[in-house]
Amino acid sequence: MTLTNTKIIAVANQKGGVGKTTTVINLATAMAACNKKVLIIDSDPQGNASTGLGFDKAILKNNFYYVIRGDISINSSIIKTQIPNLFIIPTSMDLAVVEQEFVNLKKRELRLKSEIEKISTSFDYILIDCPPSLGLLTLNALVASKNLLVPLQVEFYALEGLTQLMDTVNHVKTNYNNLLQLQGIVLTMYDKRNKISELVASDVKTFFKEKVYKTVIPRNVKISEAPSHGMPILMYDITCSGSQAYASLAAEIINQENKLNDKNS
Ligand SMILES: Nc1ncnc2c1ncn2[C@@H]1O[C@H](COP(=O)(O)OP(=O)(O)OP(=O)(O)O)[C@@H](O)[C@H]1O
Ligand SMILES: [Mg+2]
Repeated sequence: MTLTNTKIIAVANQKGGVGKTTTVINLATAMAACNKKVLIIDSDPQGNASTGLGFDKAILKNNFYYVIRGDISINSSIIKTQIPNLFIIPTSMDLAVVEQEFVNLKKRELRLKSEIEKISTSFDYILIDCPPSLGLLTLNALVASKNLLVPLQVEFYALEGLTQLMDTVNHVKTNYNNLLQLQGIVLTMYDKRNKISELVASDVKTFFKEKVYKTVIPRNVKISEAPSHGMPILMYDITCSGSQAYASLAAEIINQENKLNDKNS
């Protein structure tokens, strides 16, 4: 595949439960609905992106663990989802042992990058769902990506840990991948009835300025119900505020890219 037109985005934040997987599933679905061909790589041993799209991670054999080990071809692991234009490389809990298994392996940070280069279908976007840590799997995702998308839960400790994440980005830029850049920060679980939400959102915007997306994802119970039905929110309830927000985020990201392309052409 020529990767030149594929936008590879790592969705990462070492903080747990901030909306990484929810963002991957729903942003990818909204992009697919905009006629973009999208691949999700589930690089979290928890496998929430796989189950959230209706795949039983216990029975999937051709999964990401075997891809990153180099046991199977990445092309054989790509499967169609129930959403047109949306594909996934699912994972299994076995992936958790990769950190120990690869400990003495040379170039272990480059495994995912070299596998992605072998993908023979062209995709507009590849979204990588990272686990809640800055370990080897997140490092692989950052080395393989051009962009980092950070979901940030609007809560009191929101900014805590972001310095560490940015230090890791700089380490990756210096040592492996100077193309990596912070694409944007998306505020998640925003609760307009809660004063803290407003305060934290304004703090984050002061700090990260135009890197913060205009679209804010509201706290919405439908978003948390959808995964138990194995569906993205846009399939579960297209009219709810969560669906509207993810559709708007997809539009913002696609437009951001169109503007960049216009500038460069
Ligand atoms: N906007 C939202 N409104 C309500 N619930 C949400 C929202 N976003 C995420 N959730 C719920 O919060 C929980 C954590 O979300 P999610 O799994 O996306 O976070 P994560 O960052 O991927 O977690 P982990 O770090 O464990 O991988 C899930 O139960 C999810 O359904
Ligand atoms: Mg997750």
